[in-house]
Amino acid sequence: MATLFILFGLIFVANIYLIIGLPEDLVYGYECIANDCVKFELNEENLKRALSLPVCYMLCSDSIGTLWPKPNGKVIYDSYLFHIDLGNILFNSSTSPAVYAHLWKVNEERFAERLQNKLPDKEIKNKGGYPIKILINIDNSEFKEVSKLTLNTDESYTLNVTKEDNFIIADIRAKNFFGIRHGLETLSQLIVYDDIKHELQILGNVSLSDKPAFRWRGLMLDTARHFYSVKSIKRTLDAMAMVKLNTFHWHIIDSQSFPMEIKARPELHKLGAYSQRKVYTHRDITEIVEYGRQRGIRIMPEFDAPAHVCEGWQNKISATACFKATPWSNYCPEPPCGQLDPTINDTYSVLQDIYQDMFNLFDPDVFHMGGDEVFFACWSDKQSIADWMTGLNWDLENLGFTQLWGNFQMKAMRTVDSVAKNKQVPIILWTSLLTDPVHINRYLNKRRYIIQIWTEQNDSQVLGILERGFRIIVSNSDALYFDCGGSSWLEAETNWCSPYNGWQRVYENKMENIAKGYVSQVLGAEAAVWSEQIDEQNLDQRLWPRASALAERLWSNPSDNWQKALARLRLHRENLVKNGIAAEPIQPEWCLQNPKSCLISSQF
Ligand SMILES: *[C@@H]1O[C@H](CO)[C@@H](O)[C@H](O)[C@H]1NC(C)=O
Ligand SMILES: *[C@@H]1O[C@H](CO)[C@@H](O)[C@H](O)[C@H]1NC(C)=O
Ligand SMILES: *[C@@H]1O[C@H](CO)[C@@H](O)[C@H](O)[C@H]1NC(C)=O
Ligand SMILES: *[C@@H]1O[C@H](CO)[C@@H](O)[C@H](O)[C@H]1NC(C)=O
Ligand SMILES: *[C@@H]1O[C@H](CO)[C@@H](O)[C@H](O)[C@H]1NC(C)=O
Repeated sequence: MATLFILFGLIFVANIYLIIGLPEDLVYGYECIANDCVKFELNEENLKRALSLPVCYMLCSDSIGTLWPKPNGKVIYDSYLFHIDLGNILFNSSTSPAVYAHLWKVNEERFAERLQNKLPDKEIKNKGGYPIKILINIDNSEFKEVSKLTLNTDESYTLNVTKEDNFIIADIRAKNFFGIRHGLETLSQLIVYDDIKHELQILGNVSLSDKPAFRWRGLMLDTARHFYSVKSIKRTLDAMAMVKLNTFHWHIIDSQSFPMEIKARPELHKLGAYSQRKVYTHRDITEIVEYGRQRGIRIMPEFDAPAHVCEGWQNKISATACFKATPWSNYCPEPPCGQLDPTINDTYSVLQDIYQDMFNLFDPDVFHMGGDEVFFACWSDKQSIADWMTGLNWDLENLGFTQLWGNFQMKAMRTVDSVAKNKQVPIILWTSLLTDPVHINRYLNKRRYIIQIWTEQNDSQVLGILERGFRIIVSNSDALYFDCGGSSWLEAETNWCSPYNGWQRVYENKMENIAKGYVSQVLGAEAAVWSEQIDEQNLDQRLWPRASALAERLWSNPSDNWQKALARLRLHRENLVKNGIAAEPIQPEWCLQNPKSCLISSQF
């Protein structure tokens, strides 16, 4: 570790304290000894070598200890900290294209808020310090690009911080808005509040280049088993932006409720929402999509079909099968039952109206069509379906029903294409019988479909799908289902995918272990929040900081194990809390203050 330079006349201050004694709030400080932050009681003499806890975490680490996710590229820095002036932050984006202009204002405010939230009681005792100039430079070559995230967006950036004359200059360069935005997040993490000197400080001489290891870094939220307020969704997007997650997969509708306003079919949300206050209006959705975009996040809707339809379809029972059939466990995995009837034309005209609103509102660059948990017993319960199949000489066994499903998927996809004006948007489907390697090539085209894995990581389907050339998104339930653990909602046991997947498991859920030699076909991963037992009251604790562990796995893809990340995650969790995210603690606070004393072995 380089020598730590203590700046700004601390020695002078220490001299005063020799005469008048330390103020009451100065009790402990830290110093970095053998890569460990060691706590000690302050006195007039040792004050000059004392570091505040975040400064110590920042410098006493094998990299910059305040960054999460850690950069995936070259990092050069000196252990200099400079006092900065919160009231004097100047953005200069004059060289950036006009299409981004309206996005800067939001991000400037967001940056200021990040800094404000570092202050205890939102105020700063030691005024003054250097002004910061933030220079935003966008490579001219992508000038005309619309500011929308796609699978081809280059999210890389470089960030240099230097002190020049009486300014701190932060120079951020990227190909587009998204890269710059990530650079600003990193910059905000190079700034810490020093509670010994009572001032904001920045790491003063830094040069880093950074880019994501995986392009799809997401969370899935199910807003049908429970409704989430727009406010809680925005809070989630804010936290995602802090850790550079870029995809909010919105499982908006399911059999339990239909909370999305569909303009041409208002009965769907009128009859299907838990209450008329628990509806996402077009205005809400537009707001959320824009909120995500400002934070570098695509909002991707899912309409899960042909299973998982029930509430809302009361006026269209003819377009469904096994509607609210009982006993439910004979027909579906969860009450209430219902599946679309693929043999009825009207089914596709309702779908068209749903897809139309989704495409108008979300303008998705990738669309999710669900496709999980189809129960053949549901379809075989309806005589007209059996007659239709018999008319085509299909058997009424698994093979025939798989054909029926494949036929549905083909027609539903054509319906998507018709509302997407034949843009051929890539389609995601959950793993299912249809994606079984035995059937997949017959029903799905690898150039068009992306498969989202929700089996356990070592399920043989995974490699079978990859061998057949499909791209995948990983959400293996044995690491990335964040609803696992705790009691079942049906029986007096733990829930189906117990145990709880701890952050360490999430962190070590490596794409290389899952995809073996096919990692290039892995777009990325998503953590899934299924909401049977989660709503906005416990959402933050379920997501954070586990979703941060996923974010680092996908952004940095470190070869290190979780032990190496523990200290940074501990501090990062504190930052989430300071920014209004009710993230759960990962260790006692004592361990935050006595890092190495909590280790149980010498493997660190
Ligand atoms: C912003 O940067 C441009 C180009 O480097 C420069 O000409 C301009 O004076 C700067 N504006 C401010 C307000 O610093
Ligand atoms: C900043 O870092 C660079 C490269 O490491 C070095 O050449 C330069 O002297 C440093 N500047 C200061 C003020 O320490
Ligand atoms: C950032 O710093 C690196 C290393 O010191 C240097 O090579 C690079 O040119 C700098 N970039 C900018 C934009 O100043
Ligand atoms: C359903 O649509 C198909 C194809 O457009 C058409 O041939 C068929 O007659 C329609 N069936 C009914 C009952 O309207
Ligand atoms: C798959 O992983 C689970 C949990 O990690 C383990 O219990 C199971 O034995 C594994 N199955 C195979 C076939 O390796």
